[in-house]
Amino acid sequence: MIKTALMNVMTAAVRKAARGMIRDFGEVENLQVSRKGPADFVSNADKRAERTLQRELEKARPGYGFILEEGGEIKGTDPQHRWIIDPLDGTTNFLHSIPLFAISVGLERDGEIVAGIVYNPVSDELFTAERGKGAYLNDRRLRVAARRSLEDCVVTLGIPHLGRGDHEAWLTTQRTLMARTQGIRRTGTAALDLAWVAAGRFDGFVETGLSAWDIAAGLILVKEAGGYVTDTRNRDLSLKSGEVVAANPEVHNELIKSLSGRV
Ligand code: IPD
Repeated sequence: MIKTALMNVMTAAVRKAARGMIRDFGEVENLQVSRKGPADFVSNADKRAERTLQRELEKARPGYGFILEEGGEIKGTDPQHRWIIDPLDGTTNFLHSIPLFAISVGLERDGEIVAGIVYNPVSDELFTAERGKGAYLNDRRLRVAARRSLEDCVVTLGIPHLGRGDHEAWLTTQRTLMARTQGIRRTGTAALDLAWVAAGRFDGFVETGLSAWDIAAGLILVKEAGGYVTDTRNRDLSLKSGEVVAANPEVHNELIKSLSGRV
């Protein structure tokens, strides 16, 4: 566990937002049977969590800016720092009572992510990383998996769905990876995909069309756990591009080659 003032601030804000989220998740289960479904309720739960995070972080670090999934960009008086926040990554899972979602908070300093938290409130797994200080799952130091060949790997992919993404390109990617890996998974939360790569549970993660708040915290987790994170053409990851290939260094290279820019 990283014991810096910054991590204490971030952890406290995330845990506070998580308490409300867990209560709301309990309610969502009851709403599945209503005709209207839980969509409005979930959208409000998302906004409530975001307000809690914003309020707590603003109190502890006045002047920092924000990029919020729900609230958009809020410029701070401090031009160096901004929080990049997804209060509920895995919204579709949450909406369907699937207990796999996360709160994701990254801190950017002078254009670079320097700290990140991904928290799964259901499993109480807190993934934290700070630049130069390593990545942790609760109190345990994280390292990416050591597998060296794609043939031994389990990879997680974002899969396009109704109204989103290039379905044909993804079918090509999946066909390639199906034939070369031990298995493909789809969690429905990019923040946890990255956290689980950092934890060595997944060997690799590939997705395009993501937003900055889906990946800001997760990318520093992977880097601090010894992994590589780039776009699909092996360029430095830009939060704007929304393309992510994350893995340990050997497998990352193989993943990039096997995709050959097709996703
Ligand atoms: C989504 C999740 C999902 C990914 C989608 C994202 P949200 O974020 O990260 O895994 O496939 O592209 O939009 O909407 O649940 O915050």
